[in-house]
Amino acid sequence: MPQRTHTCGQLNESNTDHNVTLMGWVNAFRGHGSGLVFVDLRDRDGITQIVFDSDDAPTELVEAGDKLRNEDCIRVTGVVRARAKANPKIPTGAIEVLATELEVLSKTAKLPFVPSDESNLPAEETRLKHRYLDLRRPKMQEILRTRHRVTKVTRDYFDEQGFLEIETPMLCRSTPEGARDFLVPSRLQEGMWYALPQSPQLFKQILMIAGCDRYLQIVKCFRDEDPRFDRQAEFTQIDLELAFVDREEVMSIMEGFAKRLWKETMGIDLADFPRMTYQDALNDYGIDRPDTRYDLKLIDISDLAAKTDFGVFQGALEKPKGVVKAIRVPGKAADFSRKVTDAFTKFASDFGAGGIPTTKYVNGDFESGIGKFLGSIKDELIERLGLEDGDAVIFGADTYSIVTKALGELRQKIARDHGFIPEGAWNFLWVYDFPMFEHVEGEGDEPGRFHALHHPFTAPSDHELERFLSADPDNIDEIESIVSDGYDMICNGSEIGGGSIRIHRKDVQAKVFSLLGLSEEEAKLKFSFLLDALSYGAPPHGGIAFGLDRLVMHMCATDNIREVMAFPKTMTGQDLMCEAPNVVDDDQLHELHVKSTATTTV
Ligand code: AMO
Repeated sequence: MPQRTHTCGQLNESNTDHNVTLMGWVNAFRGHGSGLVFVDLRDRDGITQIVFDSDDAPTELVEAGDKLRNEDCIRVTGVVRARAKANPKIPTGAIEVLATELEVLSKTAKLPFVPSDESNLPAEETRLKHRYLDLRRPKMQEILRTRHRVTKVTRDYFDEQGFLEIETPMLCRSTPEGARDFLVPSRLQEGMWYALPQSPQLFKQILMIAGCDRYLQIVKCFRDEDPRFDRQAEFTQIDLELAFVDREEVMSIMEGFAKRLWKETMGIDLADFPRMTYQDALNDYGIDRPDTRYDLKLIDISDLAAKTDFGVFQGALEKPKGVVKAIRVPGKAADFSRKVTDAFTKFASDFGAGGIPTTKYVNGDFESGIGKFLGSIKDELIERLGLEDGDAVIFGADTYSIVTKALGELRQKIARDHGFIPEGAWNFLWVYDFPMFEHVEGEGDEPGRFHALHHPFTAPSDHELERFLSADPDNIDEIESIVSDGYDMICNGSEIGGGSIRIHRKDVQAKVFSLLGLSEEEAKLKFSFLLDALSYGAPPHGGIAFGLDRLVMHMCATDNIREVMAFPKTMTGQDLMCEAPNVVDDDQLHELHVKSTATTTV
């Protein structure tokens, strides 16, 4: 038997004179002490005004209405009538319900905060501790609704494209995805440990070898790394894999997905996604996930800098891989005071830059900063940077990697702080042609080593295969120059998805493992199941994973990943509501063959 006739967002003038029953929470109340009480009743759908009026109802009912307080959970029966003065701000604003019956389903204790008072929310810790109250806020309900719509469109789209949703285990063997594993001790196998999956990477590849053709899963992943504004230890991926495809086909299906998602969840038509190589992204934007909503490009002026007698430029150009780059900041000459530009230098020092020289182009001349050193290259610099009167210019002069990193980060800071990010813009692009490996110098006596830029199962680009197989492992430049078949989808400067065409040949996979420093025995020990599976007719395959939480962050315009998760962890990895992690009984540990060496417990 339905307990209510309508939700709190449904009624309008067409329901006038109907007898209705609503259930929900008291969002606000106004008693007038003269036998008239107004209550705003809220549920997931909206708000309806309820009136307790002693002219039409018994005194006890009006008194009961007068005792209602925020967040009491009630059921009200009454008659719909037109309001004397409509409230155009809410969909039910033309009507109100004149109460004839009231049942208090659950009285609320003293509230730690009032969820309906958006202007007076407490610190995030309090919201997380009482998440059941926090999630009652319409804003949070809307986020949950958006998240639901995203998973629904995902399932619909990929179902139409022939994908099967297949679950993979949560208790697995550790596979290297770059982060630390969460471990689970085994009770039945003494001394053995499961790892929670960092992603279902190897299972989805095995599913392709198993003939499943197209796989989809909306799946929890676990990485024991420090949380950040867009990173949680426990997060959700939209995970996909396809057999018998090349990079173009994967990218085209995934681009179709993003377009459908934006259309169906936000009514936005996205244009085709531009493509950018990793090298171009680094050269022009200083980062492999460029935010292309604004220009502020890094422009190489090393050849011009060499013609000046500015010591900082000369010093940089004498270094191995030394460069000088500049960013034109349109119209900001007046805003870039000494205090502002000093702050740039401080900011860039975190990325290894010794300083950020600046100048202003005003009244046809370089004024202030390093302007006096630029006379000899004035016209060429104006032309190269496309300078106009009133522009500011910032420079980076050091090794390629320091200049790229420092100016790449500074570019984003300037865009944020000085109003270069256009409202409501959606800039998607693909970045591809990543190097397969990066060489990391060893510390102290440790030898240097290669690490995989995507993950170790990413294939070299088709045209690189022979070069890869014959490459000399001791030739760092040669190995670093090999390009992979990986691709990242970038939205407004954030990586929302990353994937690749995979290795489907055992000899290629074995060479990758060996370059990553795994001996044949170690590779067998860790990956025998993959290497075995690759020996039994593995099809060419590739895939991608999208960060569901990050997608929803973009759609809901929040820069805090915790806002888009129903039950997130804090920056110190705690669930404040359930108080997890927590201590366990010694008996439980004993059963799991585990002994704690912790010296402090809560
Ligand atoms: P990758 O590690 O790039 O690839 O992850 C894919 C996407 O998952 C999201 N993401 C995260 N979101 C929130 N918190 C985190 N800690 C976090 N880490 C990653 C990002 C990222 O783009 N198995 C491969 C995919 C593949 O090759 O198919 C993988 O996991 O949005």
